Amino acid sequence: MNVSRQSPDPDTMSYAVRPMDERDMTQSAEVERDAFPTLFPPTAFRRELRNKIARYLVASRSDGNRSDSAPEPSGPSEAAPLFNRLVSNILRRRNSAWQPGQEFVAGFVGTWYMVDEAHIVAIGVRNEFRGFGIGELMLIAAIEQAMQLESRVVTLEVRVSNFVAQNLYKKFGFSERGIRKGYYTDNREDALIMTTDTILSPEFNERFVELVQAHQGRWGRTERTLF
Ligand SMILES: CC(C)(COP(=O)(O)OP(=O)(O)OC[C@H]1O[C@@H](n2cnc3c(N)ncnc32)[C@H](O)[C@@H]1OP(=O)(O)O)[C@@H](O)C(=O)NCCC(=O)NCCS
Repeated sequence: MNVSRQSPDPDTMSYAVRPMDERDMTQSAEVERDAFPTLFPPTAFRRELRNKIARYLVASRSDGNRSDSAPEPSGPSEAAPLFNRLVSNILRRRNSAWQPGQEFVAGFVGTWYMVDEAHIVAIGVRNEFRGFGIGELMLIAAIEQAMQLESRVVTLEVRVSNFVAQNLYKKFGFSERGIRKGYYTDNREDALIMTTDTILSPEFNERFVELVQAHQGRWGRTERTLF
């Protein structure tokens, strides 16, 4: 089933962004296996959480005070059968790392801060949860974090074949700045280097605010805790 272009009720967006911590490592590894199945070796999240230049954020949803049952969409999202079905499906998966009482992690983004550049090293969403604004939400949060840390630009590498991710980045003002030949070790695919113009300019900020408002209008208000 291709759900990537489905557009549920905006109120179904009940994810929050917050810094990744130790309790998220198992689920984040699961997200990584979904999002980057050929990545080897897998990210050492424990080491990354201690890495002074790295910041990782997760998009997660809480099941509130319920400790013995699967998280369910809260509030208005009760009225979103497709969304509920997706949540249930992922949680029912035999190998899901999610445990009752835990927040459910749908995606993560990792950024390395080097000199005046914020370098997004990974952004990924669980398969079943793509197309619901979660990747965009995390990119928004990563850019906000970079703004607060006064980075000049945000940059990243993306496979030349990964048009979905490239679309997302272009939407947020990233453009192609070069190519890294044979960058990906699994199939020697080239990487595009995509970088924003300076994120501290009024022009970037104006467009960014419009995009954040549009995201909010489409998917609902979200809480973003960046540090
Ligand atoms: C790339 C990824 C993070 C996007 O996350 P997502 O939650 O599915 O994306 P969203 O629903 O937030 O969509 C945001 C934008 O991405 C682009 N996009 C998303 N799905 C798309 C699709 N099926 N076709 C084309 N563009 C798409 C669009 O620009 C979209 O904005 P729009 O809805 O206004 O058109 C996700 O697809 C993923 O985890 N992919 C595997 C890992 C990966 O490739 N990461 C990037 C490595 S550089």
